[in-house]
Amino acid sequence: LSMATELQQNILLFLSQSGSIANTAALEDGKLDQQIVFSALKSLESRAFVEFSAIEQESWLLTEEGSQIMENGSHEVRVFNQVPEGEDGISIADLTSKLGAIAKIGQGKAFKNSWISKKGDRLIRTVSSVEDVTKTQLEEIKATGNHTDSSIIKELKRRKLIDKVKQISYSVTKGEKFSTSLEKQETDLTTEMIQSGSWKTANFKEYNFNAAGLPTKGGHFHPLLKVREEIQQAFFEMGFEEMATSNYVESSFWNFDALYIPQQHPAREAQDTFFIKDPAKATELPDFYKEVQKVHEEGGYGSIGYRYPWSYEESTRMVLRTHTTAVSGAILNTLSKMKPFESAKLFSIDRVFRNEAVDATHLAEFHQVEGVIAGRDISLGTLISFLDTFFGKMGIKKLQFKPAYNPYTEPSLEVFSWHEGFQKWVEIGNSGIFRPEMLRPLGLDPGVRVIGFGLSLERPTMIKYGIDNIRALVGHKIDLNMVENNPICRLDKTASSTAFEYAK
Ligand code: PHE
Repeated sequence: LSMATELQQNILLFLSQSGSIANTAALEDGKLDQQIVFSALKSLESRAFVEFSAIEQESWLLTEEGSQIMENGSHEVRVFNQVPEGEDGISIADLTSKLGAIAKIGQGKAFKNSWISKKGDRLIRTVSSVEDVTKTQLEEIKATGNHTDSSIIKELKRRKLIDKVKQISYSVTKGEKFSTSLEKQETDLTTEMIQSGSWKTANFKEYNFNAAGLPTKGGHFHPLLKVREEIQQAFFEMGFEEMATSNYVESSFWNFDALYIPQQHPAREAQDTFFIKDPAKATELPDFYKEVQKVHEEGGYGSIGYRYPWSYEESTRMVLRTHTTAVSGAILNTLSKMKPFESAKLFSIDRVFRNEAVDATHLAEFHQVEGVIAGRDISLGTLISFLDTFFGKMGIKKLQFKPAYNPYTEPSLEVFSWHEGFQKWVEIGNSGIFRPEMLRPLGLDPGVRVIGFGLSLERPTMIKYGIDNIRALVGHKIDLNMVENNPICRLDKTASSTAFEYAK
């Protein structure tokens, strides 16, 4: 029998004889570690052998000094014992050499108790015997943990001879399935049991269906990644290809000028855009920059342009891209080199940067979802039907479009969806037909039309996962448990009222 089982067995035997244990502190002369008693009781309780409850008691323990006094007697008694009977007594010097430091304190007390007196330079007894009260008191406290006279406790505490301790012990009664036979319970069915047939009589431990279970191990996808995956899937289902968007740093040319965003546009100011210090400038611009310059300055393709002097320098300034349309433009330029032109459906989901004041719904960096369709037989109808299908896949059925403005699209449509929760139309994206002023300098044929749309990834994710502060979703303060505890799979896709809802 192991120690632990022996203790359990002893508890059971005690219970079968006495019916109950009033206080486990009294077992085995109080020598048991109550922590160990507790685990024994816990284990017995789990098999309904016993029931138990905790008893909290304050008791007193002797300090180091207290224990010494209990062993050797109090200082005053030790002084008294050194003084021989008779008129001669003992000299103070002799006493001190015998008792050391305690001689002085002991004398004081012995004088106060009138046990000794001084005769010349010698100490003599004034009583024939003394009682060591302190020692007796300490013995009582040592045995019972307390003293019947509370003023004595107070005095001994003041003298630092005793100290208060909290003790937990237990009272135990028989449980529902009390028994003294503590047979080991089997937790596994083994090959040996099957071979020997011992499984037939083995005592199996019952299943605990209320046990919490171990958390599943392994990595967890961040909610943004999960929503990103859903959106990606919608694009793939519709025959889209994903664009490579790993270049966070772009020239102003690709981020703005090539998209027909004029150089004095407010988005190009430092309070909206992060400009890069090193390298501050692109080494060169693609050759067709001249086409871009011309369309900004003079227009073309039926447009009169912005009519301002376009600066090459300004166009070389490096920025953290403010939208993924910077990438779409560059890819359209590449596509234009394919002859004959082939229609394309492209999408991207990646990071963009804006110099925004960070608050509960805005970050200086976030993700954009962007889709682009290029082809010859494309119209506004294509855009609207595309948006209908795409958002439909996300569970959004009711859409409305509002005319808007982008430098690079005409017409431009803001996309709104009906939010059942808020009972109003909320903006969910921006879209449009790219202007010839953008497409033609990029090299696309006059007959090719391109539509595009963009939205953020964070907003739908926040709503799907019930997160109301964007800083709980992204950044250095996020709680990794949030990532771990979010559902692996949400079942909201068919529930039209909750699916893909956007915040105000
Ligand atoms: N670039 C736009 C934005 O940042 C989104 C957009 C993309 C609009 C493509 C129209 C066409 O909001």
